[in-house]
Amino acid sequence: MSKPKVLLTRRIPSSALAALDAACDLDRNDGDQLSSAELQARLADKEGVVCLMTDAMTAEVMDAAPRLKVIANVAVGYNNIDVAAAQSRGIVVTNTPEVLTEATADFAWALIMDITRRVSEGDRLIRRGAWKGWALDFMLGNELRGKTLGIIGFGRIGQAVAARAAAFGMRIIHSDVQAAPGSGAVPVDRLLATADIVTIHVPLTTETRHLINQAALARMKRSAYLINTSRGSVVDETALAWALKNRIISGAALDVYEAEPAVHPDLLTLENVVLAPHLGSATTETRTVMADLAVRNVIAVLTGQPPLTPVS
Ligand code: DGY
Repeated sequence: MSKPKVLLTRRIPSSALAALDAACDLDRNDGDQLSSAELQARLADKEGVVCLMTDAMTAEVMDAAPRLKVIANVAVGYNNIDVAAAQSRGIVVTNTPEVLTEATADFAWALIMDITRRVSEGDRLIRRGAWKGWALDFMLGNELRGKTLGIIGFGRIGQAVAARAAAFGMRIIHSDVQAAPGSGAVPVDRLLATADIVTIHVPLTTETRHLINQAALARMKRSAYLINTSRGSVVDETALAWALKNRIISGAALDVYEAEPAVHPDLLTLENVVLAPHLGSATTETRTVMADLAVRNVIAVLTGQPPLTPVS
């Protein structure tokens, strides 16, 4: 029996690649990101695709892939996929939930520690030769003990971030855009006004796009910090640059941006912001299991089994 034809849009770890290669007739792209036209051409005869969050799986792309049965995203977020278009064409969409929760929560804490204790700022200072030596009042940061951590989005990753907060002696409040009654969530506006650190863990949807805009930033304490490891467009970057420049908030630490890999030019000039290049899930362990899960999803669907982690 012939193997199902599958496109792999970018390099993945070798264990996942070997499994995919063994089960499918694989067309793999090891080069740069495929353009929409290239995706359409290479998907014309494919039944499955393993793609990354940088691949825009639009209705137009799907229309060029009449045999496509499954789109397996190697990411938990799936705002790069037009899920409604896929569903209306009978294409299963899968993502990689759970396997990246701990790595992403760890990274949110790396950013919290960095911005509150000025690690990257100090690193930049040393590298430009500006360190004159230890002084009692030099580069003072802020402590976490006794402060309030406000978590917007209390799903798996938000809860994993909360679990780590106990070790730092922080009080936790949380919000959800659509909080279930009795969930203990507080309204987003109250969280913004109360928290010393606001950390965002919501998916990007029409409801959450620019959730953190100029008005939201103005509600935050002047001493507060904003952390974003979710999706760039949840924060209005122009408004954030304004807030940081005018000390409306004390600082921000970002892992994600509105138009990656571009970053708002004003953010690049500010000392009170930490900029990471979308590293939330970037550990060898996590990226390996993410790719394994995506491959298992494709193979499951193409062999008539239910997908392991479908997007509903
Ligand atoms: C995700 O999975 O959505 C991350 O942003 C990329 O690892």
